[in-house]
Amino acid sequence: MAGGGDPCVAIVGATGAVGELIRQVLVEQQFPMRELRLLASPRSAGKEVRFGGEVLKVLPLDAKHFEGVDLVLSSTPSSISKEWSPIAAKAGAIVVDNSSAWRMDPEVPLVVPEVNPGALANIPKGIVANPNCSTIQMVVALKPLHDLAAIKRIVVSTYQASSGKGAKGLDDLDSQMMAIGREETIPPAKSHIDRLAGNVLAHDWTASDEGYSEEEWKMVKETRKILGDQSILVSPTTVRVPVRVGHSESVHVEFHRPLEVEEAKRALSKAPGVILVDDQGKQIAPTPLQCAGKDEVFVGRVRRDLGVPNGLNMWVVADNLRKGAATNAVQIAQVLVRNGLLKNCRRG
Ligand SMILES: NC(=O)c1ccc[n+]([C@@H]2O[C@H](COP(=O)([O-])OP(=O)(O)OC[C@H]3O[C@@H](n4cnc5c(N)ncnc54)[C@H](OP(=O)(O)O)[C@@H]3O)[C@@H](O)[C@H]2O)c1
Repeated sequence: MAGGGDPCVAIVGATGAVGELIRQVLVEQQFPMRELRLLASPRSAGKEVRFGGEVLKVLPLDAKHFEGVDLVLSSTPSSISKEWSPIAAKAGAIVVDNSSAWRMDPEVPLVVPEVNPGALANIPKGIVANPNCSTIQMVVALKPLHDLAAIKRIVVSTYQASSGKGAKGLDDLDSQMMAIGREETIPPAKSHIDRLAGNVLAHDWTASDEGYSEEEWKMVKETRKILGDQSILVSPTTVRVPVRVGHSESVHVEFHRPLEVEEAKRALSKAPGVILVDDQGKQIAPTPLQCAGKDEVFVGRVRRDLGVPNGLNMWVVADNLRKGAATNAVQIAQVLVRNGLLKNCRRG
């Protein structure tokens, strides 16, 4: 950890799947901090966890631990964020919140640094929302194309990893896979809606309006908010697949203006946070296994949509725990520090 002018940081939900990755990304990025506090539920209080070369004790979530904290990186269930992020903000911190609790609040910026960093200029509630993992990777890939030809409609199908449901989701898949390997009785699902090993689940999220799940509505609403265009039509189908880490997406995008495949590839190859992995001849396209542990969004199979005049199809893969959550949150924090926004945004 660094010097006296650096922020005091708290990770809320430090013991979860995302919280663990936030700790790791902070170390990798050598994020400047004068102090780090790790908070979680009372169940984890006193637990020792690693941070770089140090071992830190987990504190229970309590308002007194926000005293003197400049920046909170929060990744707890929505209900906890709803209650506790305003408490941390009132104590003077800027909160970067990974849950869905604040994303659609008009007074809370919803930010992907490669796409809409300017939204960080105004943080009236002291809370910045980190978007949904599936939305983040899609908008990072689409932003350079939107700038060229203006998106009219997106049809997206996701292939989402078990870790999207946190540590418990991963436990489900791992224990089921282990039982299959040992030819034992497969344990029932505790987190996913049904058995995931050897299966595909199209209903692993809470049902919502018009036959779409909450996850699907997040992709519709968050995409429009981040790209700043309420006219964009989004038609999503979200699906859970038996993959540990890394969400994949089949994205069909229709533009207002024509966009050639080669022009799209040129833009993608130069876009921040995007790695183009596209060699049709060699049948090379990104896979979740290759992308797990990486911070970028990988794009492949860029091709003309055979069904609409101004359409392109592509395959988009990213690590849901990194760019879909921890890395994006830390990148937001880096912009806040770089632009001196932690102190400026304090409410009186
Ligand atoms: N997983 C993903 O790919 C992903 C991507 C984007 C956003 N998100 C969002 O990020 C958040 C965390 O997800 P996750 O996957 O990391 O979940 P997780 O593995 O279940 O971790 C949840 C964390 O919240 C803490 N927590 C739970 N109840 C609490 C309470 N009453 N008081 C204080 N802390 C409490 C847990 O502490 P204990 O360990 O002590 O229970 C744990 O540290 C969720 O809102 C999720 O929707 C997840």
